[in-house]
Amino acid sequence: MHAVGIVAAAGSGLRLGSDVPKALVPLAGRPLVRWAVDTLLAGGVAEVVVAVPAAERDAFAAVLPDRVVLVAGGSSRTASVRAALKAVDSSADAVLVHDAARPLTPPDVVTRVLAALAGGARAVVPVLPVVDTTVAVGADGMITGALPREQIRRVQTPQGFHRATLVEAYRRLPAHAELTDDAAVVHTAKVRVATVDGDERAAKVTVAHDLALAELQVRV
Ligand code: C5P
Repeated sequence: MHAVGIVAAAGSGLRLGSDVPKALVPLAGRPLVRWAVDTLLAGGVAEVVVAVPAAERDAFAAVLPDRVVLVAGGSSRTASVRAALKAVDSSADAVLVHDAARPLTPPDVVTRVLAALAGGARAVVPVLPVVDTTVAVGADGMITGALPREQIRRVQTPQGFHRATLVEAYRRLPAHAELTDDAAVVHTAKVRVATVDGDERAAKVTVAHDLALAELQVRV
């Protein structure tokens, strides 16, 4: 199977308290985006397209392998992935979309996603169980009901798709739609989304505390 990876790396470093884009922030001396690209390649993806902030293209090129294709991202994650998808080779069978913000994702997760696609899934996401009690809360902060946690999962990346299915789902999506992941994009196109086991190490780096935890993780 010919699989191409997309890394969404066009976000800002605002919540991390960084003045450079989050994907360029170093973890154990290696920028987050480089970790994400290396994971995809180690897991079996043949090529990678990275969506970067338009003004930072040179800084990204300097830290990534030459064969990685860079495209200008958009003002939302959805817009960035849409732009990267246009640069994916149309001969590819599968596309895996990954967040630069999940640097320590083990390559095994990539392998599991690819295996599910090879087994016939048109869309597949890595997931983890929820261990806490989960509730719905109203605008006033009061609990409105309980959510059965056995039916709930935390969704990670990389998320894998049959390429033509993902392209068609993005084509149908309204131009300014903003969804938090790509499974939501194909779900709106009524595509069934399968799940495989995720990994706690694929946690998302959002705030400074997450980066500190990731630094500790690299050391053990
Ligand atoms: O902001 P958040 O952490 O949810 O972003 C998830 C991923 O999407 C990050 O890797 C970020 O770089 C990427 N992103 C993007 N384009 C944007 C906003 C976020 O590629 N406009």
